[in-house]
Amino acid sequence: MSLIPDETVEQVRDSADIVGLIGESVELKRTGSDYRGACPFHGGTHRNFSVIPKKGRYYCFVCHESGDVFTWLMKRTGMDYPTAIREVARRTGIVIPERPGRTGPDPLEPLFGAVAAAHDWFTRRLLESADATVARQYLEGRDIPLETAAIHGLGFAPPDKSFLAAMRELGVKDPVLLEAGLTAARDDGTVSPRFRARLLFPIHDLRGRVAGFGGRLLGPGEPKYLNSPESAIFHKGKQLYNLHQAKGAIRKEETVILVEGYFDVFRLLLAGVDHVVAPLGTALTADQAALLKRYAPSATLLYDSDQAGLRATFRAGDELLRHGIRVRVASLPPGEDPDTLVRAGGSAALEPVLRDALDLLERKIQLLERRGWFEGVEHQREALDRLLPTIRAAADPITRDLYLKAVSDRTEVSREALVQQLAARTGRPPVPAMDASSRPAAARHGGQATPRPARRRQAEFSAEGDLLRVVIKDRGWLARALEEVPPHWFETPALREVYDALGRSPENAGSPVFLEQLSPEALKAWAWLDSVEPKYGTPDLDLTYAAACRTLEARPLRRQLDALVKRRQEKLGPDEFDTVIREEQRLKQELASLSPEELLKRHMRRGRLDAR
Ligand code: CTP
Ligand code: MN
Repeated sequence: MSLIPDETVEQVRDSADIVGLIGESVELKRTGSDYRGACPFHGGTHRNFSVIPKKGRYYCFVCHESGDVFTWLMKRTGMDYPTAIREVARRTGIVIPERPGRTGPDPLEPLFGAVAAAHDWFTRRLLESADATVARQYLEGRDIPLETAAIHGLGFAPPDKSFLAAMRELGVKDPVLLEAGLTAARDDGTVSPRFRARLLFPIHDLRGRVAGFGGRLLGPGEPKYLNSPESAIFHKGKQLYNLHQAKGAIRKEETVILVEGYFDVFRLLLAGVDHVVAPLGTALTADQAALLKRYAPSATLLYDSDQAGLRATFRAGDELLRHGIRVRVASLPPGEDPDTLVRAGGSAALEPVLRDALDLLERKIQLLERRGWFEGVEHQREALDRLLPTIRAAADPITRDLYLKAVSDRTEVSREALVQQLAARTGRPPVPAMDASSRPAAARHGGQATPRPARRRQAEFSAEGDLLRVVIKDRGWLARALEEVPPHWFETPALREVYDALGRSPENAGSPVFLEQLSPEALKAWAWLDSVEPKYGTPDLDLTYAAACRTLEARPLRRQLDALVKRRQEKLGPDEFDTVIREEQRLKQELASLSPEELLKRHMRRGRLDAR
């Protein structure tokens, strides 16, 4: 925890005059919106060193040195980070509140240091090394100039293990690499780089420090994208890709564009659209919405318009509404994502899409209308059930009022009745605890204490079934699961067999050909799966899916945790004890970060409308 508040650091950086500062020692000439000069880092004589005031950064096209006002001072004068911040603050006249009780250096500094060293190495690989040809060709194939990639700090992680030796040479300690999520240790003690054969997008915190990476595979394989794991400095549910750079533009535009992927962000940046961010491979979380609320009162969701994209849109939309952000939904032509659209048509193609964006609720009504949901009384009732959560989510009173009016007009249900419905809490059966270990074991089953591990095993088994039910019910979910859910999550042999069969021929799911290939056990499992509705019913497939994924993703972590607790109960030396406790804490943090839990909690609190 650095002792200068994050917001102050941001404020200092935002108000710094980077051109003036660098201009004190480098002769800069204006070229367009940037400034050019001779690079002081490699002692160049040509104007290859550029200062980009809009981004608050400098970059050398020859030696690839890059950074912001703070790194400039650190590298040029040897100041440490806090001193550099204070120096810039002094120049811009910002007063940094001194907090009492300063004790020693920031404990997270070594982690940031390791990630920075790794980032530097990865970017150099991408630009310079022979084995990165594949990555450079990949970028070229996607119409992304290498120079732009370099300015934004993209990197390449080679397929071999050379990363380890390089870090050792730079003096980065093995445990730090591990803690920063840059390496992974296997049970047998061997260590390997986490990122291999991937193109890396650096993910910055709000201070502009690289905290982690998102890595896209360059060849075939799984998973397509791999992020840094949760660590003391990287939190995929709390950070947003590109926010550090976009926040100025977001404030200026008074709105933010939200897209799904790294390449979408990147493509929009290339097209000159700066107020764009993306979540980090998960659904938008409450924390991320709260973060955005700090910068903008409104947002436009620019997600794919297929089924999965729409689901993600409405989920993110309600989340933003709950934080008092006004939400519009832009609709892309079928089959396009922001990357493909802008790549083909430039920002001109984006303009009408953004202009025609509809308010979230209106977009919902439009879709329901197109599907005939407003015809017939029982349909209307269901249409209402789909609209009410969005009205309820609207934290902003004016938005809520407008929503009530719009829905009342459309459905001819009185405003009073709607308000009443909104306030009603129906008696819905409670969602079972997602975190069994955090509850007293005897809490349910009429006080009959079930041993925790047994109950958890039961829940884990149910999760395997739930997950399969969702994907059997809906092809869209099957496609998504095949991308996200590794087969080894299924530990029940018959269920694993079903999942494998689905993976081999998703298009045949349930057909006679499909069933024929199953063993008798798997066939029995199929019949059982098919005969029961997904846990939270069809309208909430996403909830069932998220809950099941969380349980299954958590399973190995919980096992490790059990093993640690067991070890802790043995006789341990104080050092060993400490290690075990730390490892326990790390695992608990990681468990806590598996995303959908928040969603589930909220769902429980909110109560459901349809008494299904
Ligand atoms: N994602 C992920 N893991 C996956 C697939 C996707 O974390 N296996 C996340 C990534 O953050 C990615 C985003 O979801 O950027 C959007 O995914 P997708 O639409 O599949 O990727 P694109 O951005 O279209 O990637 P590409 O164009 O490289 O295929
Ligand atoms: Mn794409």
